[in-house]
Amino acid sequence: MQPIRIGVIGVDNRGAYYVREFHENVPGAVVTAGMDIREEHLARFRDCAGPDALATSDYRELVNHPDVDAVVVASPDSFHEEQGLAVLEAGKHLLLEKPMAITVEGCDRLLAAHKQTDTVFGLGLCMRYMPMFQTMKKIIESGDIGDVKAYWCNHYVGKGGHFYFHDWHAVRETSTGLLLQKGTHDLDIMHFLTGCFAERLAAFGSRDYFGGDKPNDLHCPDCPDKETCPEAQLGDWPDYFTLCAFRRQVDVEDNHVLIMELEEGIKAAYQECHFTPDYHRDHIVIGTKGRLQNDQATDTVSLTTRRGSADAVYHIKAEGDAHGGGDPLMCRDFIAAIREGRPMLTDPLAGRMSVAAGVAAHESIRNGGKIIHISRPPV
Ligand SMILES: NC(=O)c1ccc[n+]([C@@H]2O[C@H](COP(=O)([O-])OP(=O)(O)OC[C@H]3O[C@@H](n4cnc5c(N)ncnc54)[C@H](O)[C@@H]3O)[C@@H](O)[C@H]2O)c1
Repeated sequence: MQPIRIGVIGVDNRGAYYVREFHENVPGAVVTAGMDIREEHLARFRDCAGPDALATSDYRELVNHPDVDAVVVASPDSFHEEQGLAVLEAGKHLLLEKPMAITVEGCDRLLAAHKQTDTVFGLGLCMRYMPMFQTMKKIIESGDIGDVKAYWCNHYVGKGGHFYFHDWHAVRETSTGLLLQKGTHDLDIMHFLTGCFAERLAAFGSRDYFGGDKPNDLHCPDCPDKETCPEAQLGDWPDYFTLCAFRRQVDVEDNHVLIMELEEGIKAAYQECHFTPDYHRDHIVIGTKGRLQNDQATDTVSLTTRRGSADAVYHIKAEGDAHGGGDPLMCRDFIAAIREGRPMLTDPLAGRMSVAAGVAAHESIRNGGKIIHISRPPV
């Protein structure tokens, strides 16, 4: 059987993971092309994918290349819509990183373009594949906690400064906001575990720690305060990833509280704070018969029932640390979905609905906590 030939757009950081994984570890796949705007990233791509692979700075050349069957888009969020549309319009399979786009309208344009093709279109919502959330999904489906009525999620983003405030992530124009950029994963898991999308929500949020009055062109290695600043990004980082986390340009919130009503009347709450000392997420699902809760520190899921009859602690075994074992399973599902002509677990409707919830939450925050209603896409 011929391998599926993969092109990767954006080949550093997240993209470098995909290049390595598809080229070296996923059976039935080979990486034949990479695109990036930076020559040094293309040079590293060539080292991994070999001299015969196309290495280009033109994403259209990659998308239309005859040796590319499927494309992974791992560029920054504001390019997902344009590059994803080009892939779908070329009739190629698409694995598009989250968030699907930075606007709901962008997501709907991608959904409409996908309807014109018979290609596989999946999202990089890798947490769906994590054994921890797969275990929780199975327990919910077994009926052990009864009908789900409440869902609380706390997201402690302890590396908030490190990952989110030194580059494009911290600017509304290029990310919309961090409930979309970061929260899209957890909002998606809330949809996935309950089988229900958010229908209305209200949110409060502000910028309580990052941002400030430092110059927009100040880089950590050049800063007079670099020895004492708790957020200094020093070491072997490219300069586009070392902008001051307290610069004027930072205009996204770093502290968010969101309440939601999901379909079937499920009451849900989501908290995301980017200056916690620790880095993990708690998902707590409450049904009419019991409660289910994960613990990332001990890699466990606990089931507690009202009558105590089905109480249990599940120990989760995940391979590797790539998103709790989710990333390799997602890459394999992309190839299997292409071969079997079926959708991925991370389907585009799910991608669109987590963006819709994130966008609505930012709209609410920026309009005094107004209640925002969320609709499914026009058919
Ligand atoms: N699923 C996950 O858990 C997960 C984890 C990390 C990142 N991501 C997503 O992956 C994407 C990339 O994130 P990152 O942290 O690697 O970002 P990044 O800023 O490090 O950029 C990734 C690569 O894209 C390149 N690039 C920049 N502009 C480009 C353009 N116009 N066209 C093509 N390439 C371009 C950069 O040079 C770099 O090589 C984001 O959308 C992010 O949300 C997802």
